Amino acid sequence: MAAGARGRFITFEGIEGAGKSTQLERLLRRFGGRGPEVVVTREPGGTALGERLRGLLLDPSIGTMAAETELLLIFAARAEHLRRCIEPALARGAWVFCDRFTDASFAYQGAGRGLGPNKVEVLENWLQGDLRPDLVLVFDVPARLGLERALTRGKRDRMETEDVAFFERARAAYLERARGQPHRYRVLDGSLDEDSVAAAVDAAWTNWLDETDRGAVPGNDV
Ligand code: TMP
Repeated sequence: MAAGARGRFITFEGIEGAGKSTQLERLLRRFGGRGPEVVVTREPGGTALGERLRGLLLDPSIGTMAAETELLLIFAARAEHLRRCIEPALARGAWVFCDRFTDASFAYQGAGRGLGPNKVEVLENWLQGDLRPDLVLVFDVPARLGLERALTRGKRDRMETEDVAFFERARAAYLERARGQPHRYRVLDGSLDEDSVAAAVDAAWTNWLDETDRGAVPGNDV
């Protein structure tokens, strides 16, 4: 990569139980320390303050909070994450792999909570300027299946206490956003077994690299 080139920003999205975090780990293993620096992070979270805010957002004992409060807390964590982690990493040429980002706010707060996309967009434009992920991998799974999988992981967090309809709204929003910008999004069928999803991720990754600068990328020999 040319000195001073901006890194790449890749995000992993989907409702609970879609398998995004597992697939993020698997894709990372393929990088194997070759090529540019890779930063792995998550939202809400990714900084000390962001992780404290995550604790509040997911604490089931807090119960209901106003949808606006939820959105603003998430963007407070995101502002911290952008300024302290994501922007400096991209500026020094690192590749940032982020488990969820602003697409989750459109899905969960915009659609799930019913705030609509406009309020999310205002905050997105304010805090991110022109920054958008270069690639969004959306792991798609029917809400009922995703929730069943998530609940086998143990205690429900505050978001997981929502009903199937909430997660179907979130799922539909992800799919609609992906349809609107096919060059930046790839939708993967998260209902398949883990190895089949990983193979689909490899294919999507290679396809995306073919559309960007393949030579600059670790793991491009797949
Ligand atoms: P997870 O990423 O470990 O699944 O948990 C994060 C939870 O936070 C998940 O339920 C989705 C939720 N969330 C939002 O509601 N809005 C957001 O913008 C983000 C990043 C996450």
